[in-house]
Amino acid sequence: MAYLQGCYPLVGKEQLTAGIYSYTVSCPEIVSQAVPGQFVHVRVDGFSLRRPISICGIDTENGLLRMVFEVRGKGTEALAQLVPGQKIDLLGPLGNGFTPPAGQQVVLVGGGIGVPPLLELAARAGDRATAILGFRTASAVILAEDFRAHSCDLRLATDDGSEGYHGFVTGLLEERLAEGAPGMVCACGPMAMLKGVVEIAEAHGVPTQVSLEERMGCGVGACLVCACKTVRDGREVFTHVCKDGPVFDGKEVVFA
Ligand SMILES: Cc1cc2nc3c(=O)[nH]c(=O)nc-3n(C[C@H](O)[C@H](O)[C@H](O)COP(=O)(O)OP(=O)(O)OC[C@H]3O[C@@H](n4cnc5c(N)ncnc54)[C@H](O)[C@@H]3O)c2cc1C
Ligand code: FES
Repeated sequence: MAYLQGCYPLVGKEQLTAGIYSYTVSCPEIVSQAVPGQFVHVRVDGFSLRRPISICGIDTENGLLRMVFEVRGKGTEALAQLVPGQKIDLLGPLGNGFTPPAGQQVVLVGGGIGVPPLLELAARAGDRATAILGFRTASAVILAEDFRAHSCDLRLATDDGSEGYHGFVTGLLEERLAEGAPGMVCACGPMAMLKGVVEIAEAHGVPTQVSLEERMGCGVGACLVCACKTVRDGREVFTHVCKDGPVFDGKEVVFA
């Protein structure tokens, strides 16, 4: 599918928690082509390289795209300074999204800033989705109300036990899979979490799709900055996270 580039108005800005912002952008052309799991490549004034941010919400009726990002360095710090009314230069939608089997139950597993790309999947699956979301501590929890609003079965975990299950999302995933096998587990978060999720799901015979993060240059498959090792047809090959991913079959990913 072709991608688009344009400058689009920021129509909504909300700070969700310390250093994490939700932006709503009016970009009907991008929204009309976007699917959950894809990303937009954002140009920030003063930086030559764009910053990849996942698509968190797709409102096709109103042409609105939502993204949620954490301030990590200078680029996202500058992005966080924008105010509604200003325009954002976006390239997208880019990459391949999640493709859970239609009509079946799906388990979504997100860790920290890996949670936002799963929200639109929850919106589409509704009460067929179990969302298992993990955070460091209660004050770091984001988007819980948004997942609840989509009627999914929400299960929270915190590393320190200050909210929900005390421990990692993998513990909650074990519990959920013991209740019955969904059609797929879709996950986004740190590599160590993704590795654990894929191992557990495979042990239960459940297919997985995982969204990977890699530093990016062009975002469209032309520069090799985002190369990652995967297994295809039994052979280890380098693929592009931007073009071949960011969502991969869990079985294809070579976890270090
Ligand atoms: C497909 C994809 C989707 C993403 N979606 C989101 C999202 O929805 N929300 C969000 O907050 N972030 C997301 N990221 C990560 C985001 O792109 C980086 O945090 C951002 O580019 C950092 O830019 P910066 O200039 O602020 O930081 P820099 O100064 O460039 O780096 C600051 C820190 O961030 C780390 N970093 C830089 N780029 C990446 C990267 N691509 N992945 C992981 N760590 C990185 C660096 O190692 C460094 O520690 C995504 C990344 C990818 C590849
Ligand atoms: S970022 Fe250039 S090839 Fe992926």
